[in-house]
Amino acid sequence: MIREEVLEKRLRLLVNFGGVVSRETNLSKLLELIAEQVKNIIGCDRCSVFLIDPETRELWSKVALGLQNTEIRVPFGKGIVGNVASTGQTIKVLHVDQDPRFTHDLDRMTGYRTRSILAVPLKNVAGKIIGVFEAMNKTGTGFDAEDEGILQLISSLAASGIENAELYQSLSKSQLETIQRLAITAEYRDQHDVVIHLRHIRDYSALIAQGLRMPEEEVELIRYASLMHDIGKVGIADAILLKPGKLTAEEYEEMKKHTLYGAKILCNAESELLKVAYKVASSHHEKVDGTGYPARLRDGQIPIYAKIVSVADVFDALCAQRVYKPRWEPEKAREYIRGESGKSFDPVVVGAFERVFDEILKIHALGDDRTTISAQIIRETNGHSY
Ligand code: C2E
Ligand code: SIN
Ligand code: SIN
Ligand code: FE
Repeated sequence: MIREEVLEKRLRLLVNFGGVVSRETNLSKLLELIAEQVKNIIGCDRCSVFLIDPETRELWSKVALGLQNTEIRVPFGKGIVGNVASTGQTIKVLHVDQDPRFTHDLDRMTGYRTRSILAVPLKNVAGKIIGVFEAMNKTGTGFDAEDEGILQLISSLAASGIENAELYQSLSKSQLETIQRLAITAEYRDQHDVVIHLRHIRDYSALIAQGLRMPEEEVELIRYASLMHDIGKVGIADAILLKPGKLTAEEYEEMKKHTLYGAKILCNAESELLKVAYKVASSHHEKVDGTGYPARLRDGQIPIYAKIVSVADVFDALCAQRVYKPRWEPEKAREYIRGESGKSFDPVVVGAFERVFDEILKIHALGDDRTTISAQIIRETNGHSY
């Protein structure tokens, strides 16, 4: 092929790459897909994607050995791959036999004979290294500067696809359903409207996060984590939780402990989602002026996720009827939120709330047929593309 054709073909493949990668949410399939695509775009014989395992500080990759898929692991700093991961620098080796960094371990394992390598770091949008791309044995000319540029370009697209897939993987369908059911159970004793309240909190929180221009992954995290904000209410006695009227000061003190119980239930979580849920459950009643509970945290100490849910929670509580208060009109609730900006709430979050207020109103105005919504909230989750 002449050079123009090569370039055109590459460009086509590149354009295609973004689309293909953003659609696949299964991590193993995605990694295979990326390796296959890169092989075609670069025109090399083989491509491996190594990802960093932050717990062990190793890089891992799946390799086909015979008919089986095996996971291989390389320590940080070791070999070409390990060096790229620890330095963040691209490494190009035209003859691996002449490069002392190259370890023959993997070749020995796989029976593959590596001659040349182009290895670039996989960086996410925040610039953090999440793994390494390794292209091997370029047919014909050997790797050149253009290959390097292309691989770096692909790397950022691939990294965002990979992070998405990791998130989707950590939020499996059954996990999400469990969360929803738990959240509903925890609050069911409290209010009959709990399912509606939860759905509102979920949707309002996600909208506010969007209003804050948070990355989509974080919007999804807050969407589901927000459902667990009051999960600690499982620990509150019926006599208080179900009291048909104003709480005494003592009872209110007891009620406030739902944040501590929630923290207990969700602490030491491993998944990203439950980590966010922990922050929300423990801090959604903190106020930026330091007068909230349970820890009287101040502005900078309150996680953004908790600040978002706090606005969503109070807005929806005000708009709903409670045994201790009548329903407020949304406009009055909005005035209240505005008035508490800089006192209860972070002004930046209030700003985002204002920006998405029309969307919030639409959700608020939806019908609230209680008998179907419980089934619906679970169905919606299952229908989600996870
Ligand atoms: P909730 O009813 O879902 O209310 C959540 C939050 O919305 C409240 O957190 C409060 O910040 C805000 N909020 C709700 N209603 C009003 C209101 O009429 N005026 C104002 N200014 N803010 C309101 P808070 O106060 O920490 O209460 C936490 C939870 O404790 C409440 O969740 C509710 O389940 C319970 N609770 C609080 N006060 C009473 C009460 O007097 N009687 C009963 N039965 N439960 C109460
Ligand atoms: C190395 O990074 O040194 C070995 C990588 C490989 O053989 O693929
Ligand atoms: C609270 O008791 O502080 C919240 C409910 C209310 O204001 O009536
Ligand atoms: Fe709460």
